[in-house]
Order: sequence, then structure tokens, then C-alpha cells
Amino acid sequence: MMREKIDQLLSEVEELKAKSEQEIEEIRVGLLGKKGKITQLFDDFREVLPEQKRELGQVLNKLKTAAAQKIEELKSVLDENPETKESAYDLTKPGNFFEFGSRHPISITRNEILSIFTKLGYAIADGPEIEDDWHVFGALNFPPEHPARDMQDTFFVTTGDNPILLRTHTSSVQVRTMEKVQPPIRVVCPGRVFRNEAISARAHCIFHQVEGLYIDKNVSFADLKQAVLLFAREMFGENAQIRLRPSYFPFTEPSAEVDVSCNICKGKGCNVCKGTGWLEIMGCGMVDPNVLEASGIDSKEYSGFAFGMGVERIAMLKWQVKDLRHYFENDIRFLREFKTEV
Ligand code: PHE
Repeated sequence: MMREKIDQLLSEVEELKAKSEQEIEEIRVGLLGKKGKITQLFDDFREVLPEQKRELGQVLNKLKTAAAQKIEELKSVLDENPETKESAYDLTKPGNFFEFGSRHPISITRNEILSIFTKLGYAIADGPEIEDDWHVFGALNFPPEHPARDMQDTFFVTTGDNPILLRTHTSSVQVRTMEKVQPPIRVVCPGRVFRNEAISARAHCIFHQVEGLYIDKNVSFADLKQAVLLFAREMFGENAQIRLRPSYFPFTEPSAEVDVSCNICKGKGCNVCKGTGWLEIMGCGMVDPNVLEASGIDSKEYSGFAFGMGVERIAMLKWQVKDLRHYFENDIRFLREFKTEV
């Protein structure tokens, strides 16, 4: 009985084949594991009559060695011929779906602003976020005692003569452009700016701007109005109206704030426009001759206009976001709202 079982198993062992490491492990457990067939035979061996022990013991040991050898052999065959190995990956399975990301609403808005102006022939200019006083204030006609130069309003990196600071507007990039090239100049300058403000729903110490500069012969305030009107209609719809209110900036004369008709109540008055029917979207003006001269441009030959807007503000108005802080907190539920916009 026992002898037959051993012989039977021995011939089975010789025929064994395996396509994967897992199969080999199953074979090993089936033969030599705690409840394996060979282990079981060793248990039965204890009951064998003493006169048969010698012979049966020999064949049983032979079987055990043969099984162990076969398992080793199967392993090395598999290692040497990986193509016979059944892949650990099932290539017929459907793939995992990776969700597309989406652009941040500030990037979407900035890109939209830039594309309106690049269509008008403006180039995009870039400059450093850590700047010196000259490029942020001095060259822009800020008097030495101007409040923007106060520690309360600006983050200073160094003090002293021409201190290093975090730029408070991207007008500094316009200065760098004027220093490098002679008119005609048409640039838009997108970028991060920094102001020493308490963070609230309407203000943040970091925000984004796009500022623009247009300098050529005979540029007039009418050209400025036209550019701003075109921008407002591209951004807020073809029925958008604009209105200019006199204002003051050290680097422009005359200066104005631009309002756009409220796109929510269509000018009737609502809580977004605080009942006025108008929303403030940017500052602008004709470049002060002092500013042109400070950067080496002849103010008798050339004139120009400049404008500057906050990207967060435009985005808030466009999507009626009431709290600016949403743009900085990266709450995934908020960001997913902009999924369709690429
Ligand atoms: N630099 C101004 C600001 O940061 C915006 C501005 C730019 C105003 C150009 C007029 C002309 O507020």
C-alpha cells in the first residue's frame, strides 16, 4: 500500500511543471507542507511494521529528496526563462483612470487677461519678485516720504540706500522694460506682489497683478480708454460698459480708476456692486513724463499709458467668489469647481 503510494508520487513529482512562483509554492505546500502528501507519508511511516521500515524508509527519503530537487529545478527554469512566466500583471485588465487635474482659478484668469492683451500685440514681460527701491518706487516718481515706502505697507529685506524689498506691484517690470528697450513698447507684466496687509476676505499680503504699458509717438488718453473698453468687453461680455473716475498715482498723470458695469445685476444695483451698478477693476493713467525720463525715454518724443489690475479681484468678480482667501487655501472642493476650465 505504502510502497505504491510512494512510487505513484515519485512519478508525479517527475512530471511536475509550473508557470509561476505562486504555482511552485502551491506544489511545495502540497507535498512538503504540514499537511503535504509526503509529510503525511512520514506520519504513516511510524505505523509500518519493523521489518518493512528499512526498505520503505529508503524510498520515502528518496521521494522527499526528489521532490525538493524538483522544486528547486522548477524555480531555476522559471528564473532562466522569464518568458514562460505568467505575467504578474494582467494586461487584459482595464487601466486605472487617472483624474485630470485642473488649472487654479487664478491661473485661468491670468491666462485669460494675458490672451486678451497678446491679441492686441502686447508682449509678456517678467521680472524679479525681490526688487530694489529704485525699480518699485524711485523710478516711478514716488517721493521719498511716500507712505508706500513705509514699513507698515511694504516688506523690506534690507534697509539703507536703495533697500531691497518684495515688490508691491509689477510696475517694476515696466521700469525694467523701459530701461532695456526704446519705444514702441507694448508689454503686459503678470506676477505675484506683496503688501504688508492683514489677511481678510478682501485683502491678502500676497496677490497677483497684471499691469500693462504702451509707449509710442502720439499715444493719447483716448487710446487708453479704447484699450480698457476692449478689455472689459472681452472679459465681462460684449455689453460691458466702463466708467473712469479721476484718481492719483505718482507714476501717471492724469490717473483714473476704471469701473465696469456690474455683470450680475446688469447695472441695476445688487449686493456685489453694493447697489452702485459698478465694479472697480483697475487703475490706469498716462505715464508721467518724469517716469519716462527716469528710464531714459525722451518724454518730448514719446507718450504712453499704463494700467494695472489685481487678478484675484477680476476672478472674484467673474465667479462671484466672496472671500479672497479661497484662492490661497487650496481646498480641493473649491478648486474642483473650476474643473471644466482648462
Ligand atoms: N501700480 C498700481 C497698483 O499697484 C496700478 C496701476 C498701474 C495704476 C498702472 C496706474 C497705472 O495699484
